[in-house]
Amino acid sequence: MLITFEGIDGSGKTTQAELLSRRLAQEGITSEVVREPGGTKLGEGVRELLLHRTDLHINPVAEFLLFSASRAQLVTEKVLPALKDGKTVILDRYFYSSIAYQGFGRGIPTRDIETISRFATGGLLPEVVFLVELDLETALERRRLAGRTNDRMEGAELEFFRGVIKGFSECAQNEPKRFVIVDGTEPPEKISDLIFEETIGRIKKVAEERNAP
Ligand code: TYD
Repeated sequence: MLITFEGIDGSGKTTQAELLSRRLAQEGITSEVVREPGGTKLGEGVRELLLHRTDLHINPVAEFLLFSASRAQLVTEKVLPALKDGKTVILDRYFYSSIAYQGFGRGIPTRDIETISRFATGGLLPEVVFLVELDLETALERRRLAGRTNDRMEGAELEFFRGVIKGFSECAQNEPKRFVIVDGTEPPEKISDLIFEETIGRIKKVAEERNAP
């Protein structure tokens, strides 16, 4: 089973991905959390280029292709082998982030993003996407309180992030069965309960479908 988390920076999706993995372990379900960009040696190198080399000027198409390169490596090196071993894989971001950030944020046509993402991932789709929604003001305030310094992506102007939020919301509207929207302003434990229940429900459903005659 492939589960992905999406949301803007500061939405709390990484915390929720880790919490879900821990709660699944308590039920005897082994899972692996992998992050994008990164998750492999190549991917971590690409992550460094994309997020921390503020001296580099990276144009939007090059930026998208670098995210896609990291994703292609992650799918073949980590995700597919883990799924083959029967594990649940929890992805902290997937190509929906490219639709939101490089498509709606930077202005690359989303049709191009979808085509290249399909190529990069071999068409691998998650069973469920948890979109942790949060308004920009709250996300910025959380980041300020945490004393975080901005990486290259986080340094973008506010208009960019408004586009990203709209992009995620459109992705969810286009695939209402795959997406579960959670309210990122709720307490983390409450969000975690909801995500856990939904995941268990979906795992049962997949098992039932497999066992059906
Ligand atoms: P993330 O790992 O969530 O940030 P952090 O761990 O530092 O909180 O994401 C890294 C940044 O990369 C984030 O700003 C979103 C951006 N990103 C894209 O722009 N496109 C993509 O396809 C992906 C996967 C991430």
